Amino acid sequence: MILPIVAYGDPVLRKVAKDIEADYPKLDELIPNMWETMYNAHGVGLAAPQVGLPIRLFVVDTTPFSDDDDLSEEEQKALDGFKKVFINAQIEEESGKEWDFNEGCLSIPDIREEVKRKPEITISYLDENFKPHKETYDGLLARVIQHEYDHIEGILFTDKLSSLKKRLLKTRLEKISKGKIQVDYKMRFPNIKKGR
Ligand code: NI
Repeated sequence: MILPIVAYGDPVLRKVAKDIEADYPKLDELIPNMWETMYNAHGVGLAAPQVGLPIRLFVVDTTPFSDDDDLSEEEQKALDGFKKVFINAQIEEESGKEWDFNEGCLSIPDIREEVKRKPEITISYLDENFKPHKETYDGLLARVIQHEYDHIEGILFTDKLSSLKKRLLKTRLEKISKGKIQVDYKMRFPNIKKGR
């Protein structure tokens, strides 16, 4: 089932999400619904707060990035079929020299900006069977995981921009929160006035 994606301005996107237990209600329905919602919106990641749930769960499938001809064959291979569920994730370490990448977010349609992040991360998490993992990622894989991880910490990529960029985007972000945008997937807007 496709779930509405929560738009910029909703307080759920600002919560530090909570860990869940294996008996979290209807997790076996929520995870497939998140995949369906993400693929329908052509995303490469989706975090539970974006479907209105302040829990530490996100999904990532970087396959669409694997056809990028600017990447090495090795990088393309790493991205192709990288499909994972991250539960109760904690980034243990981030290292290296910050690099820019043009990011977007399904909760912030039509806005894309260069965001600086460190290139390498070590993350511990549980998979969908609650089996623990601790892994190190770099490049675009790390980038997508960092973006989704920020969602479960209540952080959006627009928070990481310069104060000038933020001022320039303010009106567009307000429009998004009011639903005054064209978007080809189902969304839920926090600031739609009644009767509209
Ligand atoms: Ni996002």
